[in-house]
Amino acid sequence: MGGDTVDRPNLAFAPQGEPGNGTPYARYAMLDVLHSLQQPRSKVPAEYTFIVATQVMELLFDLLHREWVSAQHALRENDPAGAVAALRRGTHIQDVLVSSWDLLATMTPAEFNSFREVLGEASGFQSSAFLRLEFLLGNKAGSLLRMYEDSPAVHAELTAALHGASLYDDALALLARRGVAVPHEPTAGRHRHDAEVEQGWRRVYTDPELAELARLGEALLDTAERVTRWRQRHLSSVKRTMGAKPGTGGSSGLSWLKQSADQDIFPELWTVRNDL
Ligand code: HEM
Repeated sequence: MGGDTVDRPNLAFAPQGEPGNGTPYARYAMLDVLHSLQQPRSKVPAEYTFIVATQVMELLFDLLHREWVSAQHALRENDPAGAVAALRRGTHIQDVLVSSWDLLATMTPAEFNSFREVLGEASGFQSSAFLRLEFLLGNKAGSLLRMYEDSPAVHAELTAALHGASLYDDALALLARRGVAVPHEPTAGRHRHDAEVEQGWRRVYTDPELAELARLGEALLDTAERVTRWRQRHLSSVKRTMGAKPGTGGSSGLSWLKQSADQDIFPELWTVRNDL
């Protein structure tokens, strides 16, 4: 049988820099650095998995932030379709974030206990990348900035995010520019349910002329739902591996996390459904 010839990939490469620098792939992805970053403090294999899960999620928090900022820019440029596209890319990242909990799915209390001590006071609660996402969602709590007094760059970035517009503020500002009267001034506090905002979304969902904004509402809701899914998976992992013991970050653990998982993101997008 005849056919096209199939070329195999190259096994030798143009020299680059010093000898011993590895393959072009290793240089591009900086694999030496990457694989040097997992430094367990115990000899327990589960700790390595815990570190990888944490680092994977941190990278994804950062990637997600880029998409949400890109959605925010599109909203400011009166481009709801561009914002929806960025939020959709974000929901795929969120799905990977939610599945990342599978990495820890089999960790038993005995395994967790055998390395928990090496964590000291370390807790994911201290993640500035996570807090940056929270502030962008409008879930702001300025008191938490105290954790970063020793990290001026992080402190400055989060302070700006605290006082700036959230993604939701920008979505509401777009609604207002399209004639749907809703309050949208940034505040430095947690966004709370607002009857006028709910009324605005009701108009968006019921006026066929505002269908593009309704698509934006749905994309925001997809995002909100996945934030809660991530929290719920976190909660299950905590319940499985440490029950209701207090957290390394000093909280009451399960009950504190449950309270945060129970809070709806973009609450008016949920309550408007009560009478649509
Ligand atoms: C099974 C392993 C884990 C356990 C038992 C656990 C436990 C906890 C607990 C008890 C808290 C509450 C704060 C505290 O007192 O420490 C917390 C918060 C948090 N953890 Fe984990 N965690 C685990 C894995 C992870 C991983 C892999 C990440 C990824 C970065 C993470 C990210 C967070 C975040 C972002 C918060 C704050 C949540 C919020 O503000 O709603 N956790 N964790």
